[in-house]
Amino acid sequence: MCGIVGYVGRENAVPVLLEGLQRLEYRGYDSAGVAVIKNGALRVHKAEGRVRDLSEGLPKRVAGPIGIAHTRWATHGPPSDVNSHPHLDTAGNVAVVHNGILENADALRAELEAEGVEFASDTDTEVLAHLIGRSEQQELEEAVREALYKVGGTYGLAVVDARHPDRIVIARNGSPVVIGIGAREMYVASDVAALVRHTQQVVLLDDGELATLTADGFTTQMMDRRPTTKETLELDADVSSYDKGGYDHYLRKEIADQPSAVAGTLRGRLDQRFSTAHLGGIELSARELRGIRRVKILGCGSAYYSGIVGADLIESLARLPADAEPASEFRYRNPVIDPDTLYLAVSQSGETFDTLAAVQEVQRKGGRVLGVVNVVGSSIARACEGGVYIHAGPEVSVASTKAFTSTAVAFALIALHIGRVRDLSPADGERLIGGLERLPEQLAQIMETEDHVAQVAQRFSAASSAFFIGRVGGYPVALEGAQKLKEVSYVHAEAYPASELKHGPLALITPELPTIVVAPDDHLVDKNRSAMEQIKARGGPVVAVGHRAFAGLADDTLLVPKNEPELDPILLGIPLQLLAYHAALVLGRDVDQPRNLAKSVTVE
Ligand code: F6R
Repeated sequence: MCGIVGYVGRENAVPVLLEGLQRLEYRGYDSAGVAVIKNGALRVHKAEGRVRDLSEGLPKRVAGPIGIAHTRWATHGPPSDVNSHPHLDTAGNVAVVHNGILENADALRAELEAEGVEFASDTDTEVLAHLIGRSEQQELEEAVREALYKVGGTYGLAVVDARHPDRIVIARNGSPVVIGIGAREMYVASDVAALVRHTQQVVLLDDGELATLTADGFTTQMMDRRPTTKETLELDADVSSYDKGGYDHYLRKEIADQPSAVAGTLRGRLDQRFSTAHLGGIELSARELRGIRRVKILGCGSAYYSGIVGADLIESLARLPADAEPASEFRYRNPVIDPDTLYLAVSQSGETFDTLAAVQEVQRKGGRVLGVVNVVGSSIARACEGGVYIHAGPEVSVASTKAFTSTAVAFALIALHIGRVRDLSPADGERLIGGLERLPEQLAQIMETEDHVAQVAQRFSAASSAFFIGRVGGYPVALEGAQKLKEVSYVHAEAYPASELKHGPLALITPELPTIVVAPDDHLVDKNRSAMEQIKARGGPVVAVGHRAFAGLADDTLLVPKNEPELDPILLGIPLQLLAYHAALVLGRDVDQPRNLAKSVTVE
């Protein structure tokens, strides 16, 4: 969704701002803009469309040593040049870029209009620009603070003012803001992806914090003016982690990254001696772990589906009742929060609004939440009382692939860890460790089947709809397979438990509707075979994903190597990622930035 970049230093800010905006393109946006100050004058340029359109039309006079820039994802008002950020006050001194939503913007707009202010845009953000511009405060920090006391809602924002041309004032409430520390220059961004080319030293702003950046440094304080002390973090990702690495698309690169992403998730966490997993972020004693009566996993979209894989793993290995629920629904049903339940919040970005809100709801009612998160230092990671980083590396393509897989692996580690303080035997622990260690190599083997998957994808690209079915551990694989196909190829896809087919969906089976059957060689293989028979009997094409060909039943089988039965779902999903990717290629889709979708959904 929206992205912020800012620079103050001695160089021209514009190349830094444009490059930063390009790095944020993956988050999804519909328009972009920049504002710089030179010789005491604010210069602004905005455009609907891509960052490329913005830079191609950028007048030469838009240059200067301090500036802010933005990619916008429309919330208040349609995508357009005027609605794109930065937004200005009437005098044209103040420019504001803002991520988040101001909830009382309509009321404030009405008040300002009653005082004679004319608005240029439909946005909530413009309210802030006018409030700051009209403030009688002498200091920009004070004017921003005064305005922020009047607004409700969420924000990550950056403000420049031509009357204070040496500083950027930034603030955070519910939407990330990161300071980048350079040599006699400072950066700000909503996502470290925009900073890695310039610096590895970052400082994360907390909710309720305000900061002032000048070329020589920064100061931070809370809204009530209490100064805060910040820790500088060293980023472990460099600029190459955000490149396509020779592939045509980030999605393809991230699918190929999975052997190393999973190796990253496992690194240093397997303990052969005690046949368990070490997870430094779970600071629960064996006694506390034994006291847990239930596990509830909360996440959205693919993170939720990985949570279903996780719940299966925890239930089977730790013998604890476990289930996953969409975080986006959770708080609206006024859930009973049980002190003996361990809540796990799953998120690649660590910024998904609904998941964060679910965490806060659990905590408000006294529950304990741990995070299973990819982005270090993200809002969800910080809101939780510890947890497990999945260490998959940066995921840039909007559709999740390696984060999904690494999250499932992280759940296997959690299940092993809890299982071994409960009833999982050392022999089973050892067996699972062996299986986990084989995963990177087996993931690499699946990549070698790509040409075959690409042929099968041709058929799916021609279909207007597809079914994905699976049983128990295969069901979340089917859900995620359908999710990938619809997201990147726009082919309609639905997932069902295979057992549910005859309770309704079978009515839709025709020769035009292909079905993917997730059919590992497990205790349910005969049940899956009979589902295939039912589909074939009605003329439906069948593609199986499993460990052996289903001659006479499946038109094609996407084969994966066999691991331990509990870990097989982790591998079964990989051909379905390749299938979605190749179907999207055939259909000429925008693989990395599917329409209407954003990488991290920071609004409700
Ligand atoms: C699907 C996808 C989304 C995300 C969901 C949660 O490919 O990427 O469904 O999984 O928006 O995002 P995170 O994991 O960042 O909380």
